[in-house]
Amino acid sequence: MIELKNITKVYKTGEVETTALKNINLKIERSEFVAIMGPSGSGKSTLMHIIGLLDRPTSGEYFLEGINVNRLSDNELANLRNKKIGFVFQAFYLLPRKNVLENVILPTIYSGLDQELREKKAKKALKDSAFPENFIYHYPNQLSGGMMQRVAIARALVNDPEIILADEPTGNLDTKTGEVIMHTLQKLNLEKGITIVLITHEEYIAQHAEKIIKIRDGEIIAEEKVKNRKILYYNNEI
Ligand SMILES: Nc1ncnc2c1ncn2[C@@H]1O[C@H](COP(=O)(O)OP(=O)(O)OP(=O)(O)O)[C@@H](O)[C@H]1O
Ligand SMILES: [Mg+2]
Repeated sequence: MIELKNITKVYKTGEVETTALKNINLKIERSEFVAIMGPSGSGKSTLMHIIGLLDRPTSGEYFLEGINVNRLSDNELANLRNKKIGFVFQAFYLLPRKNVLENVILPTIYSGLDQELREKKAKKALKDSAFPENFIYHYPNQLSGGMMQRVAIARALVNDPEIILADEPTGNLDTKTGEVIMHTLQKLNLEKGITIVLITHEEYIAQHAEKIIKIRDGEIIAEEKVKNRKILYYNNEI
């Protein structure tokens, strides 16, 4: 579903050039749950931005479901992104003056659906993210970090994406809350078959994925299946 061929990304700031990615070759199958690990500055977020169609590579080819996305216009990229990809970030990025439900409805604005249906979809997405129903009219500053991240997951889900890209989604959360978020991501992966690409610094969090891709100085240095994967989804305690 995702195939990168010889992807290189060079950032130019004035005279300074930074090679963030070097000849990345990577395949991610539909419904896979992959973790990307690497030290700070190794190119993880750059890679996620390219996979998520937020940025273009300097060279190389990217095929998303067989479509060579290099050839698409900015508008076509944006449409494809809205249709197929949901994003979750460490910092949540919720709008403070909108309540939970409004935050989740927002990305459906271009869906062409009427308000009632958009609201219904948002409520379903919140439910699928295990967000407590009695908090949906609360504002972000009235929520815990774990709850805010559930809202962000619901917002990523609301347009029925095929892929969720999560950049350090547990980075601002304590271990227990981080686990609850991993539980939700595993559930979405196993129940809905959503492909998940998770960036993390934490080995413990990465163990929840099927496969770990290690990146260093912009290059993939290892790709390994997780032995004794942590499966939380069928664990009733969580
Ligand atoms: N917009 C940009 N302009 C210039 N250089 C950039 C830009 N974004 C990233 N870089 C550089 O590219 C390299 C890779 O950055 P990237 O953000 O992808 O790393 P990362 O692995 O996500 O790091 P972290 O774990 O700290 O989030 C770094 O050297 C960084 O300074
Ligand atoms: Mg990063």
